[in-house]
Amino acid sequence: MDIGAVKIQIESDFQNIGSAVSLEELRLKYLGRKGIIAQLTGSIPGLKKEERAAFGQAVNALKKRAVSLIEEKEKSFADSLNGEGAVSRPADIGLPGITQELGHLHPLTRVIDEICAIFMRIGFSVVEGPEIESEYNNFTALNIPLEHPSRDAFDTFYLNNRLLLRSHTSPVQIRAMKAHKPPLAIVVPGRVYRPDAVDASHSFMFHQIEGFMVDKSIKFSDLKGALEILAKAVFGQEIKMRFRPHFFPFTEPSAEVDIRCIICNGKGCSVCGRKGWLEILGAGMIHPAVFKHVGYDPKKYTGFAFGLGIERIAMLKYGINDIRLFFENDLRFLRQF
Ligand code: DAH
Repeated sequence: MDIGAVKIQIESDFQNIGSAVSLEELRLKYLGRKGIIAQLTGSIPGLKKEERAAFGQAVNALKKRAVSLIEEKEKSFADSLNGEGAVSRPADIGLPGITQELGHLHPLTRVIDEICAIFMRIGFSVVEGPEIESEYNNFTALNIPLEHPSRDAFDTFYLNNRLLLRSHTSPVQIRAMKAHKPPLAIVVPGRVYRPDAVDASHSFMFHQIEGFMVDKSIKFSDLKGALEILAKAVFGQEIKMRFRPHFFPFTEPSAEVDIRCIICNGKGCSVCGRKGWLEILGAGMIHPAVFKHVGYDPKKYTGFAFGLGIERIAMLKYGINDIRLFFENDLRFLRQF
């Protein structure tokens, strides 16, 4: 075997490493028990005496070169494993795989989807509206007078040019009624904003679902029927519901709707403030003044509307006692849903 040829071969082999051959293959080829170096060493006794010393030295030098080439390559593989360089070693299929953590829906998204699905089953469409809204749609067209406290700068985030961050989802009533003629049955999920100090039950941003239906001869009993379907689907068939007279500028008559406290079942506890009932939404028959703003004839059409807070429903449903938990992105909380 020609030492010079082996010398050239070894350099080119180690250059091609990774693509054509693996490091282990080369280690065996040169340094293995039956490898080239061993063969060269084994051939020494067959040489002429005066040739042996020089040949032996040359073989030793070759061996050293092979060992250092292997060490060099091993180090560069380790570096590229830690760095960004491409790893050209064959994959180690014995390594455990990289598991992807599966995400899931946020509890508020689940409640929104659930409530929208309930109303879709009884023929409602889901519509969304912008979070930046005109003062006109948010207040004026909903028959909320200029002097109403909710229009105060302390209760609404005002922007420039008579725009604001909507303080409820009700303005989408105006948008939808202006865009479509009755009959109309729509639910509107979305974010709303109010400059409230944040505490366990207040947030400057929260979610509502608005619902409304307009047609010839829609009655208060239609509202009751729709809300009963909602309450039973969300809180169970046994749930009791009551309507308390209330005032909203955009509905007449108006009501606040309570469910029998799901914690104490009506006996009175700290969650329901000893009342035995929990308020879950506001509702009523759409005010004729609202119909006039959207160009509907109030003599021809009637309709009902309601609005509910998603966080409140979710807190009751899942027994959550602090609204801030929804927005802190703490996985220890979110993983429970
Ligand atoms: N917009 C009201 C609020 O944010 C909730 C509401 C009450 C909506 C009565 C309605 C309704 O559609 O009829 O407090």
